[in-house]
Amino acid sequence: MVKNANAPCDLMLFGALGDLAQRKLFPALYQLERAGLLAQGSRILAIARTKATTADVREQLFEKLRYHVKDREFDAGVANAFLQRVDYLLLDFTDPEGYGALREWRDEPNNELIVYMATPPSMYGVIARNMKATSCCNEKTRVVVEKPIGHDLESSRVINDELGEVYHENQLFRIDHYLGKETVQNLIALRFANNLFASQWDQNHISHVEITVAESVGIEGRWGYFDQAGQIRDMIQNHLLQLLCLMAMDPPADLSADSIRDEKVKVLKALKRITPDMMDRYVVRGQYTAGTSNGKPVPGYLEEEDANKGSATETFVALKAEIDNWRWSGVPFYIRTGKRLPEKLSQIIIHFKPAPHYIFDPDQKHLANNKLIIRLQPDEGMALKILTKDQGLDKGMRLRQGPLELTFSETFEAERIPDAYERLLWEVMKGNQYLFVRRDEVEYAWRWVDEIIANWRDSGEPPKRYAAGTWGPVASIAMITRDGRSWYEDA
Ligand code: BG6
Repeated sequence: MVKNANAPCDLMLFGALGDLAQRKLFPALYQLERAGLLAQGSRILAIARTKATTADVREQLFEKLRYHVKDREFDAGVANAFLQRVDYLLLDFTDPEGYGALREWRDEPNNELIVYMATPPSMYGVIARNMKATSCCNEKTRVVVEKPIGHDLESSRVINDELGEVYHENQLFRIDHYLGKETVQNLIALRFANNLFASQWDQNHISHVEITVAESVGIEGRWGYFDQAGQIRDMIQNHLLQLLCLMAMDPPADLSADSIRDEKVKVLKALKRITPDMMDRYVVRGQYTAGTSNGKPVPGYLEEEDANKGSATETFVALKAEIDNWRWSGVPFYIRTGKRLPEKLSQIIIHFKPAPHYIFDPDQKHLANNKLIIRLQPDEGMALKILTKDQGLDKGMRLRQGPLELTFSETFEAERIPDAYERLLWEVMKGNQYLFVRRDEVEYAWRWVDEIIANWRDSGEPPKRYAAGTWGPVASIAMITRDGRSWYEDA
């Protein structure tokens, strides 16, 4: 693959008038323009099924950019210059005849070609086949696809096969937008640039790990999609397992895409199966009922707009994952994620084991574990909780736990943290796949998750209720308490 982001590219964006494109992709491309990263001569073909002219679409995009880009980052001059790159094409994705227009649009056939399918996955195969049949793409074309890649292992294989009939794996950029988050990439830097941690990163030194991805929002008009997926397919199969892999993987030989992805796959392969007899102790699923969010009353999941009142879809999952390998034997990874939790918060807590022999006040023994807290969002940064002596003559050798604190925005005076999609689109333009998910990762993740879903189905047990605005069903607290631990709460 060519690694030259300054080479002009032609970006064909299928589903250009959809929510993802308008809310995330165009604002991200605008930011690349603002940062001077879009090469001269780069062009965008917005493709959708709505009847409109290029002028209409540019006008509509201008308004959307103004709405979605922060005021202080919005510059009408930059937006207008950016929109000059955009043309619009009305296309029925299933009609091969229409694809000739894509070829005609390309006036510089040497430009890198990127095809972004911001469409339902059922369209990926159709678009790929039509592109090929009409010679609109070649073996250098880069193809970006969004999750969900299927709703289980079998359906993901069908989608991957369809894409694979037309494109090589090294042309495919499967997005998991968590991998584009600045702080998620920092996991790689933290782990592999600091030998201090490298030597501590195993079952000899770590007792357990927590990963929390909490959202305060509910379903936000996506009931139809979400109810088919549920929190396990929507968040655990992809984002949470990717975080787990980055936390747990062995050091890659280098930063190349395949070195990193090989290591992630090893973790997925080593995930201990959760069998029916383990479900009670290892997995909790919940569904929110009416409650409050940010001080306002909010309806329960079954009372949301368009809700199917009898739905047993989960909006919360907590589980205990174990990795059957040398490094992590005996170290549980407690994972939880849910909608309508008290706040939006993603964080990883690494709990280190206590020193082998404790010599301080017995009543302070509970303080004795160091913790590394990695805050992914908001307030990106990290803190290492260490023990020091409390100051003062009267304190003797009383201990106190305090943080060594690194808040990225303060320490590095970072002007702004780029959105995940800016990073991901930029990496696609450079032809760099290390932040994208390989086929085998998707499939191993499904294999593990499918078994949990099958266990739920076979047991017929409905999800446990939790009130909106709380941290999920009490069973999630019980799950971790049974192991003599608790979910981390910042004092
Ligand atoms: C998406 C899920 O992939 O991630 C959504 O489909 C979820 O349900 C979103 O809200 C969370 O992403 P972020 O970046 O806001 O944490």
